[in-house]
Amino acid sequence: MYRDLTEDIAKVLLTEQQIRQRVQEIAETIDRDYRDKDGKLVLLCVLKGSVVFMADLMKAVSLPVDIDFMKVSSYGSATVSSGNIRILLDLHREDIANCHIIIVEDIIDSGRTLSHLTKYLELKGAKSVRTCTLLDKPERREVDFTPDYAGFVIPDEFVVGYGLDYNEAYRELSFVGILKPSVYSSMHREEKDEK
Ligand code: IMP
Ligand code: MG
Repeated sequence: MYRDLTEDIAKVLLTEQQIRQRVQEIAETIDRDYRDKDGKLVLLCVLKGSVVFMADLMKAVSLPVDIDFMKVSSYGSATVSSGNIRILLDLHREDIANCHIIIVEDIIDSGRTLSHLTKYLELKGAKSVRTCTLLDKPERREVDFTPDYAGFVIPDEFVVGYGLDYNEAYRELSFVGILKPSVYSSMHREEKDEK
């Protein structure tokens, strides 16, 4: 009944150790950038993929932080994110005008999620809005968007682990790996067979 998920990984792209070191570096940059700012620093986790990164980042940042969560969905297939963003869990803060928000994301692909969310939070009246992503796939960009903090620029491959999923699986892996294409092509075949 239990399967070894690592069998579905073609290649480990980022080890736990590499990620830990980079998270520490990002945290130190955030500490420097915000230590003299007035207002509250809020790390805003975009559910669910960013949960693991968020947990490590909030511990590594030395400044006091508030945490919050939003959930958005983009319509599309499991390996291709589409342009339509829907807010499933919103942010409600009375003190938003006093908040410096850093949106914490797992990966930027088309750029639509973060570009939309940034504008949305600015319109809500945040004191400032910046973005922090663990992974960036610039080759797939459809809208012009550059994150303020980025962990690693990666090639155009579908990756899982350290919070990132394929159909909700693989989030618990402690590293980031490239998923074997046979995993999603065989799933598509099964889906088609059912129709
Ligand atoms: P964007 O709006 O196209 O930038 O979409 C970003 C979202 O697409 C991420 O938050 C992920 O949920 C998903 N995504 C994009 N690429 C990957 C990937 O390689 N692995 C897992 N999820 C991905
Ligand atoms: Mg996802």
